[in-house]
Amino acid sequence: MRITGGLGLLAGLGLAAGPALALEGDPARGEGVAGTCVACHQADGMGMDMPQGESWPRLAGLPADYIARQLHDFKAGRRDNATMKPFANMLDDQQIADVAAYYAQLAPWPALPAAYRAADPDEPGEWLAERGDWGRLVPGCNQCHGPAGQGVGADFPPLAGQHAGYLAAQLTAWREGRRHNDPNGLMQGVAERLNDDEIALIADYYATLPERLEATTTEEGGQ
Ligand code: HEC
Ligand code: HEC
Repeated sequence: MRITGGLGLLAGLGLAAGPALALEGDPARGEGVAGTCVACHQADGMGMDMPQGESWPRLAGLPADYIARQLHDFKAGRRDNATMKPFANMLDDQQIADVAAYYAQLAPWPALPAAYRAADPDEPGEWLAERGDWGRLVPGCNQCHGPAGQGVGADFPPLAGQHAGYLAAQLTAWREGRRHNDPNGLMQGVAERLNDDEIALIADYYATLPERLEATTTEEGGQ
């Protein structure tokens, strides 16, 4: 079954990196390249959720190898997105490495406490994220994306703190075959089993998780 054992694949995934990814990136040069990206991903790299419109993902703090791989995938069509394709096409391998290095060091992803309570069955987004639904072969997202969806290495990107519109768009893109760049179809297998309501709930759960965890920690700190 292809959706189990995600973490066991970590070692294998690393080997898939092609020679282009081995290029050393220079953040200072990358800042210059990023001049064409700021209109959407914003000067601080935090992106923006456009209500009723396109969602521009947060790039700041994503692993450099992950960013570089996505840019190569847009160029190659393994990720089919009309907005991003022309911008990825403009970049050569060195510029990809540079801009990836630039965004990776821009701002760290929030460090979250792994868990603040057991998953609540009355909160379906939280439940799916932490526990999944094994009756339908949906693994908990955090099994691959790490505790509190903070990401694991360069292969499993962080979800907590990413924009809800973007997260939902990716799950839909996998379901509809517009994104097919994930190793072994891991994410496609997951996304195919989710309905629209579940996608919206999970996306909202991860997008708001950092603030909710922060509020919880502050409350506890005040006791
Ligand atoms: C006109 C708006 C726009 C511009 C300019 C733009 N992007 Fe994007 N970017 C997007 C959108 C929209 C997506 C989401 C695409 C999708 O749904 O697959 C995206 C996605 C990405 C992703 C994938 C993030 C992830 O978490 O997988 C990367 C990496 C990225 N852009 C890098 C860049 C870089 C580097 C530049 C400049 C060279 C750039 N973008 C310019 C709109 C833009
Ligand atoms: C078996 C491992 C595995 C499981 C379980 C899993 N994912 Fe993923 N996910 C991945 C991998 C690998 C990627 C990176 C794909 C790539 O290389 O582009 C990914 C990427 C993503 C992305 C894209 C992030 C970005 O920045 O573009 C989203 C959104 C996502 N997963 C959501 C989920 C959700 C929601 C669940 C639970 C319902 C889930 N994932 C469960 C392996 C997994």
